[in-house]
Amino acid sequence: MKNFAGKTAVITGAGSGFGREFARIAAGLGMRLVLADIQADALDATVAALPGVEILARRTDVSKAADMEALVTAAYDRFGAVHLLFNNAGVIAGGLIWENSVADWEWVLGVNVWSVIHGIRLFVPRMLAQGDECHIVNTASVAGLLSTQTMGVYNVSKHAVVTLSETLFQDLRIAGANIGVTLLCPAFVATGIADAERNRPAEAQNTALTESQKVSAAQTKKAVDSGRITAAEVAEKTFECIRENRLYCLTHPKILGSVELRFQDILAQRNPSDPFSHKPNVAPAI
Ligand SMILES: NC(=O)c1ccc[n+]([C@@H]2O[C@H](COP(=O)([O-])OP(=O)(O)OC[C@H]3O[C@@H](n4cnc5c(N)ncnc54)[C@H](O)[C@@H]3O)[C@@H](O)[C@H]2O)c1
Repeated sequence: MKNFAGKTAVITGAGSGFGREFARIAAGLGMRLVLADIQADALDATVAALPGVEILARRTDVSKAADMEALVTAAYDRFGAVHLLFNNAGVIAGGLIWENSVADWEWVLGVNVWSVIHGIRLFVPRMLAQGDECHIVNTASVAGLLSTQTMGVYNVSKHAVVTLSETLFQDLRIAGANIGVTLLCPAFVATGIADAERNRPAEAQNTALTESQKVSAAQTKKAVDSGRITAAEVAEKTFECIRENRLYCLTHPKILGSVELRFQDILAQRNPSDPFSHKPNVAPAI
């Protein structure tokens, strides 16, 4: 997709971080926006930062089928078509993988994976019916290309987004669809992600954190806060990938050595290397 003016973009997680930057760029390109987030005040702040832009903002819990169905209906009722979809909302929970609670798994897989499932199953048939050029961006992470220690729940969710996106790409190709797919895989970037707990619902709260969960949370915060590439730069790069119709959108070249090493380990059938060997300062030590 190269022309954006007058078209409609739907962005989940639009209240903060990458989502807010996608909204800013899309607005600058003359798009109409459908913005969704679970955090109403954050969503309001994004809308307030975009005066004069045609926006439908809707509080949405992306993990819930009914909320996503209502979002799709509202988007089509208001704008009649959707051309660019960002399945972007996400949260994180860490710790040794056997210490994660059922609540951790359900919350993170709900927000990070089910949101993308809902986005695909609800928007793709409508985009196919529209027949015009469309594009879908799924925000995964390099956590979807690696298996970093003490981030198991998040890794599982992002590996799922990687294969969802790759399979979507293949299925759209055999269907001859005019819909592009971009899989965004950033490494650490200073956004609100390290404070994702702010939006953990009451019913998904843990009663107490284990030592490894505390260490992982502190390490994630340190790594995210020390990210050198900004959310704005990641969003610019994402639009470059959309324009070039590229599936793999990798924003952090330095981490690619770890990705390559993982695939070399698999092909050589040797046990996995430490994914943080190049960056010991952010490696969690339990
Ligand atoms: N920041 C990073 O280091 C990094 C790296 C790789 C991938 N990511 C991914 O980028 C995406 C965006 O995250 P971010 O870094 O901008 O973080 P962020 O916390 O700044 O933004 C995430 C947004 O998602 C919203 N959200 C959370 N739960 C939701 C729910 N149930 N329904 C609807 N919205 C919900 C939050 O309110 C927030 O506005 C996520 O998928 C995240 O996993 C982030």
